[in-house]
Amino acid sequence: MSYDAARYPSLEQRVVFITGGGSGIGAELTRAFHRQGARVAFVDINDAASEALLETLQAETGEVPRYFHCDIRDVAALQAVIADVGQTLGPIHTLVNNAANDDRHSWQEIDVDYWDERMSLNLRPMFFAAQAAARQMIEAGGGSIINFGSISVQMAIADLSAYVTAKAAVHGLTRSLARDLGPHRVRVNTLVPGSIITERQLENWIGPEEEASIQARQSLKMRLEPTHVAPAALFLASADSSAISGQELAVDGGWG
Ligand SMILES: NC(=O)c1ccc[n+]([C@@H]2O[C@H](COP(=O)([O-])OP(=O)(O)OC[C@H]3O[C@@H](n4cnc5c(N)ncnc54)[C@H](O)[C@@H]3O)[C@@H](O)[C@H]2O)c1
Repeated sequence: MSYDAARYPSLEQRVVFITGGGSGIGAELTRAFHRQGARVAFVDINDAASEALLETLQAETGEVPRYFHCDIRDVAALQAVIADVGQTLGPIHTLVNNAANDDRHSWQEIDVDYWDERMSLNLRPMFFAAQAAARQMIEAGGGSIINFGSISVQMAIADLSAYVTAKAAVHGLTRSLARDLGPHRVRVNTLVPGSIITERQLENWIGPEEEASIQARQSLKMRLEPTHVAPAALFLASADSSAISGQELAVDGGWG
């Protein structure tokens, strides 16, 4: 980072739970909250990437976040991890519902099982993680839930209908949970990444031509990376955003 990043005293020692915190944008979220002195726990299924991240953070800070291998499609397992974190690290203050999967799927080939599986990964865990974590937040006097939406809801990307449907629903989930949990001082917001260049995006879908057309749509002619997204999550978790709930914060370089 080429500037002095903000430090949020309100995040020190806060318990932060991140889904998909082992790679991509999630790894940067784990890193950023850890560097703020928060007590971070994350789930993922990519053990190699998650363990490599733990090693890097151990070398850098002498401390490590807690990693749980957990497939978030298994709601009972996800809720059990959340309960474990609450008991061992303290009540969760911030939940970052980040994990998702944007594999392409042709509309002709989608069957009921595939559709349900996409929802069980890209949408369902957000609600059930929020339900479990909010109980801890309420006991602790408040908290922040950050749900990851997507710019894809506004784009017309082929072969992504189930993913985009789930992502569109996230926006409604946020607004409705913000209403339910607001009286308990739990804030709920959607963080909307634009086209963020991760290793996975470069490996699978984005070459020089795609990147040029992405930057043509952005007002800011720059490559957006996970380091641009994580600071927005820090802000939404911190006390500096204490009156912000039910909102969508886009980190998309001014998409148009
Ligand atoms: N990268 C982008 O351009 C972009 C754009 C818009 C929205 N988003 C959203 O941002 C979030 C992060 O995106 P990303 O690009 O870093 O994705 P990614 O696919 O690179 O990373 C997702 C992480 O979730 C983990 N994961 C996947 N399935 C899981 C499962 N069943 N159980 C537990 N963990 C699982 C993966 O192992 C990985 O670590 C997602 O919600 C995505 O929809 C990303």
